[in-house]
Amino acid sequence: MSAELQERQPDIRPYAAIDLPGMYRVCLRTGASGQDATDQYRDPDLLGHIYAGPYPAADPGLSFVAADEQGVLGYVVATADSHGFDAWLEKNWWPPLRHRYPHSFAADPGDGTLDWQRVDQIHTVKEPGPDPLYDRYPAHLHIDILPRGQGTGLGRRLMGALLDALRERGVRGLHLSVGAGNPGARAFYLRLGFTEEERQDWGSVMVMDL
Ligand SMILES: CC(C)(COP(=O)(O)OP(=O)(O)OC[C@H]1O[C@@H](n2cnc3c(N)ncnc32)[C@H](O)[C@@H]1OP(=O)(O)O)[C@@H](O)C(=O)NCCC(=O)NCCS
Repeated sequence: MSAELQERQPDIRPYAAIDLPGMYRVCLRTGASGQDATDQYRDPDLLGHIYAGPYPAADPGLSFVAADEQGVLGYVVATADSHGFDAWLEKNWWPPLRHRYPHSFAADPGDGTLDWQRVDQIHTVKEPGPDPLYDRYPAHLHIDILPRGQGTGLGRRLMGALLDALRERGVRGLHLSVGAGNPGARAFYLRLGFTEEERQDWGSVMVMDL
């Protein structure tokens, strides 16, 4: 790699609270199977409330950000304990969101926007109980990078930072879901050493032993 290119490499660093607005924007702009979901949501925060915001609050130390002079370019967020995370969401994260987005908002307006599905998700209580996937691969993650940062090794670097942090904590395994409409992300995960645990019409569950 040339010195000039190296100079332009964005920093990978631990999450800081100031990153949250940028992370929400990245989440929205990659939220349609890896493509821009801006047109699918009337409320630009809904995706971030579900897939980005809670992780650094629930499990500090497992969120990393790639940033350059234009701001947040990408991030990885994770929890080491998916069971504990679900319980934390129920106690701490969903209540104010359920107040902000009442269940009555979970009605399809018929204009193609998907806010109503996310609101329904916010109101869906995940029953605690044994889950073989969670037991063997207790951690899970979400990773998103803006198009201008994709294909430059940032995903590998962000994932490297997360894997190091999880191993340091002695976590035994990691899982994630990837939609069938996002074959590029599935290829990325396979390339990084994940294996496909389950494949369904909606997509795949990928896993990695740590
Ligand atoms: C998926 C994503 C995180 C990958 O990050 P990235 O920075 O683009 O990937 P990298 O450049 O670090 O690539 C790492 C490796 O994966 C491979 N890879 C990445 N994208 C790939 C693709 N679309 N098809 C095939 N291989 C791919 C690269 O060739 C590379 O291999 P190498 O390091 O052995 O040469 C990123 O493209 C992204 O955020 N996409 C939009 C949001 C998204 O889909 N998130 C995942 C939702 S489940």
